[in-house]
Amino acid sequence: MNIGIDRLSFYSSHYYLDLKTLAEARSVEADKYYIGIGQEKMAIPAPDEDVVTLAASAAYPLMKEGELENVELLLFATESGIDQSKAAGIYVHSLLEMSPRCRTVELKQACYSATAGIQLAVGFVARNPDKKALVIASDIARYELGSPGEATQGCGAVAILISADPRLVSIEPECGYYTEDVMDFWRPNYRSEALVDGKYSTTVYIHALLESWKQYAELSGRGLGDFDRFCYHIPFTKMAEKAHRKLCRKCKTDVGDEQMQTLLGESLLYSRITGNCYSGSMYVGLCSLLDNAEEDLAGKRIGLYSYGSGCVGEFFSGVVQPGYRDFVYADQHRNLLANRTELTYQQYEDIFNYGVPTDGGEYVFPQYKTGPFRFSGISQHKREYESLVD
Ligand code: CAA
Repeated sequence: MNIGIDRLSFYSSHYYLDLKTLAEARSVEADKYYIGIGQEKMAIPAPDEDVVTLAASAAYPLMKEGELENVELLLFATESGIDQSKAAGIYVHSLLEMSPRCRTVELKQACYSATAGIQLAVGFVARNPDKKALVIASDIARYELGSPGEATQGCGAVAILISADPRLVSIEPECGYYTEDVMDFWRPNYRSEALVDGKYSTTVYIHALLESWKQYAELSGRGLGDFDRFCYHIPFTKMAEKAHRKLCRKCKTDVGDEQMQTLLGESLLYSRITGNCYSGSMYVGLCSLLDNAEEDLAGKRIGLYSYGSGCVGEFFSGVVQPGYRDFVYADQHRNLLANRTELTYQQYEDIFNYGVPTDGGEYVFPQYKTGPFRFSGISQHKREYESLVD
């Protein structure tokens, strides 16, 4: 049975900081960000957005089109959790008015957990071919002000509908996966910003890629030449390109700049102007590819590499389905990204330093530009959300 990604919708915040502005504030050359790490803008969440509103906004187009009716599994992948007990997906389930007959849980393993979610969802659909599963990856990437990771912040969410006979990408059964106990990036419960050993994290990312690929290649019998495009986890776009060069070198395959552009370029467009969104990052890349590929990708194989620090890596693959262009949300994604508001450095720092009140009092939050849902206040330690749609 063909099982895979039936719909794919991306959402990011309405505010961004241009990395030229950050470069000026940090007295570094803008080219370090624009060229060195391959990032131009980072999406900044408004104070009345969080991983719940980002996630619900990503899935809203599916709700509007009645695509959520048969969903009986909701997997919420995040490393920016808002509660140690309650799954953030339950708030999303409520905002999206989904059926109570639904299993809802939150998954965590740094930037990797959405991929675990997708593989679990594929198993669920194999057993229940008339049902669907919704995997949502939603994150806000935060590093300390002035730290090397700062320029790689961002935020966003991706809603991924998994079904039988998918209209976008069928997922192939072979996968290579790799776990190793390392401390390259982590966030203890008492911190709101990640701790990272930046250079080390880039080497672990690549090591896990080569190990995952080795298994995938053995199981599938495929080589790099069997792929038409690649989507990598994108903490910053240069990382994806470096990883692909390393993989090519390992496979003794040459890759020139032009070929690199063909294989990866269209998958990097959205991340370059939104930044890292951790668990959703590779799927933002897939969205960017399906929305923007000049060539009709029907029947083409995509290699997918998902990486979560700590660490788990997985290499798997998918085949693009005929007619997929009729089912992507390309116009919506482009409109969202083209109509954002640029922040000044001071506005960015004020938003960064804003913290959700923790004293159990009653708070109503001012309204900023958001998607169809907002984080409207907090009362007795309970988060309150508001739907802005009828
Ligand atoms: N013009 C052009 N290029 C320039 C430049 C200029 N003026 N100035 C510097 N550069 C280049 C450098 O030569 C370097 O290129 P190479 O990597 O090809 O050598 C690049 O810009 C970056 O410069 P630095 O290495 O000096 O940057 P840094 O040390 O300040 O920060 C980083 C880099 C450590 C990766 C940092 O961005 C970071 O900590 N990021 C967060 C961690 C991360 O994203 N890790 C990725 C793997 S882990 C993962 O993927 C999980 C996840 O999502 C977090």
